[in-house]
Amino acid sequence: MILPITIYSDDILRQRAKPLKGVDAGVEELVASMFQSMRNASGIGLAAPQVGHSLRLLVLDVSCIKNYEHEEPMAVINPYMLSVKGSCEMEEGCLSVPGVQGDVVRPSVIMLKYRNEHFEEKVGEFSGMVARVLQHEIDHLNGTLFVDRVPKRHRRKIQKELTALASGVVNASYPVALREVEPLSHPL
Ligand code: NI
Repeated sequence: MILPITIYSDDILRQRAKPLKGVDAGVEELVASMFQSMRNASGIGLAAPQVGHSLRLLVLDVSCIKNYEHEEPMAVINPYMLSVKGSCEMEEGCLSVPGVQGDVVRPSVIMLKYRNEHFEEKVGEFSGMVARVLQHEIDHLNGTLFVDRVPKRHRRKIQKELTALASGVVNASYPVALREVEPLSHPL
């Protein structure tokens, strides 16, 4: 099922998501829907809060990117970063912040402990685009958006678009979940 994507000013994107205790039919269905919703939106990563579930679960599939064609799609549950190495800058975007891009500096290699879609514990080292997407999605589970990590001097460029998104002006080619926006109060 294609689920609508929550947008920038939605509270759920600012909450710390809850760990999963296991995988049942409901979680399996959510994982399948997240893959479907991500691909429908031409995304390469999606975190559960972006489809309205405050759970520590994310999916990613970078196989559409050059040089990553053989990379298997991943479902990641309860991720925990054991260590990080290096640093690199890369331009990021986010399905919850449509129309906005910005350069973000992050570690280039991460060691991650997590559970897979069968709730089996795994430890893996990730680099390149996979490490980048994992860190962006793990941020979502902690209530952080990539725009928070864009340096202040570059934030001014995107502030107008963020203000528009916050006021409910959203141009996206995929279904979005828009919450009621509080009417502006007039200081009179
Ligand atoms: Ni995102």
